[in-house]
Amino acid sequence: MKLQRFPTLAAISSSKRSLYSISGQLPHTRQPQPQGIPKVKLSREEFVAALLDRRWTLPKPDTKIQQIILSSKKVTHPFLEMIEKESQEPSFYVVRDDLLHPLVNGNKSRKLDALFPLVEDHLVTDVVTCGGCQSAHAAAVAVSCAERGIKSHLLLRGEQPEIQTGYNLISSLYGNVTYIPRSVYADRTKMLKRHADYVAGSSGHVLWFDDILEASLTQNNLSSESAQKKAFKDDNTRRVVIVSEGAGDVVALLGSIRLVQYLSQDHLFGKEKALKLVVDAGTGTTAVGLGIGTICLGLPWEITAVMLADTIEGYRQQEKHLISNFKRHFDLESIGIGLDDILENGIVDWVERHNPRKFGNVLKGEIEACQDIAQTTGVLLDPMYTLSAWEMATTLSQKETKRDTKVVMLHTGGTLGMFGLAQRSIKPEELLCSHLGLWLRVLKWEKATHIIH
Ligand SMILES: Cc1ncc(COP(=O)(O)O)c(C=O)c1O
Repeated sequence: MKLQRFPTLAAISSSKRSLYSISGQLPHTRQPQPQGIPKVKLSREEFVAALLDRRWTLPKPDTKIQQIILSSKKVTHPFLEMIEKESQEPSFYVVRDDLLHPLVNGNKSRKLDALFPLVEDHLVTDVVTCGGCQSAHAAAVAVSCAERGIKSHLLLRGEQPEIQTGYNLISSLYGNVTYIPRSVYADRTKMLKRHADYVAGSSGHVLWFDDILEASLTQNNLSSESAQKKAFKDDNTRRVVIVSEGAGDVVALLGSIRLVQYLSQDHLFGKEKALKLVVDAGTGTTAVGLGIGTICLGLPWEITAVMLADTIEGYRQQEKHLISNFKRHFDLESIGIGLDDILENGIVDWVERHNPRKFGNVLKGEIEACQDIAQTTGVLLDPMYTLSAWEMATTLSQKETKRDTKVVMLHTGGTLGMFGLAQRSIKPEELLCSHLGLWLRVLKWEKATHIIH
C-alpha cells in the first residue's frame, strides 16, 4: 500500500482558488501553494457563489416545500410553488428533502452532494466508511457508490442482526459489510485505516477524504495531473478513500450551504425576513452547515437543532471543530467574518428534545403520533429523528403569534429507520443453533439429492 495523492480531473479557476485559505494545513497533506492563491475582496453573495461553483451529485438543489396549517391539519397545502399562503392559524413549512432519493436520506443527499463528484474526479475505485448497525450514512454511501460503479466497504459496529432490516439491509445489498466488535470499533481511525490498507493491497493507494478536498482546492499543475490520471485509468491499481463516520467532514457542509442559498431565493423564503429553520441533530453536521450558509449569506435566519445523540457541550465542541476546519479550507475573513466572533457566539441554537431520552429509544405514543401526522398531512416521520424536529417546529410556530417570523422544518428523511425499529441481534446460543440447523438442512439436502440421483 502506498500513500500517494490521486490525480484529479477538475480544473480549478484562479478566481475560485482565491476563496481558499492558505493558513491551515492537515498534518498528512501537502503544503498549499500560496503563489497561486490571490486574495481578492468578494461580496458575501460572490463568496458563496464561488464556493458553490463546483460539480454536484444532485443536478439541482431544488426541493419541495409543504405548508402545514396546525389547527386544521386536514387542510394542508402540499408542494407550494408560491409558498406565501396567508393564514390566521399557526403554520410552518416542511422542506421535503426526504423526497430527494428513495434510499439515500435527505440529509445524506446533502452531505454527499459535493463529495461524490470529487470521488469520481479522483478516479477512486473503493470507498471505506463506518457506522452503527442501522447507519443511514453507510447505506447512503453504499447506494451512491453502486450507482457509480465504485465498491463500498462498510464497517458496521457490533453483531450482525438476526433478520436484516432497514438501512442495514440496504447496506448489505449495495455494499460489502463487515461487522466489527465494539472494542475494535472504538478506535475508528485505526480501524478504518487498517481496513483501507487491506482493500488497497500491496500496490494500491489510500487517502482520507479531507486530503482529496485539500488537493482539489490547491492543485496548480493540471497538465501533469491529467497525465497522471490517464496513467491511472489504464492500470488496475486500487485507489481507496476513507470517508469518516456520518460524513462529518468539511465537504459535507457544502451541500447544506447550497440548500440555504436555494431556499433564500426571492421566490422562496427570500433574504430579508426572519426565519427559524429547525433540524434534528445526530452528529450536528447538517445543522452547522445550515448555520455557516446563513452566516455567509448574512441572512436573518436562526438555526434550531434538536439534540438527539449528544450533550450540549458535545454539540458546541463539534460546532467549533467544523467551523475551524471550514475556515482552514475557505477564507471566511475575506468577507469580513471573524472566526473568533462566530466561535464565541455560535451559529446554531442547540435545544433539548421535548422528551429527552437515550438515543434510539422510542417512547410510548410516538408511533401513534407519526401515524396521526402521516394520515392527516401525508408526511411520513420517524420517531427517532424527524418527529423531534416536527414537534419543535410545531411549538415554535405556535409561539409566533405575530406571524412575522416563518418557521421551517428541514425533513431529513429517515424513512428506512422505521423498518429498522424491529431489529434484533442473534444471541450466541441462537447463532450456534442456526449453524447446526443449516448443517442439518445441508445434510438432508445431500441425502435427498442422493436419492434423486
Ligand atoms: C433522518 C436523519 N436525520 C438527521 C440525522 C443527523 O444528521 P447530522 O449527523 O448531520 O446531525 C440523521 C443521521 O443519520 C438521520 O438519519
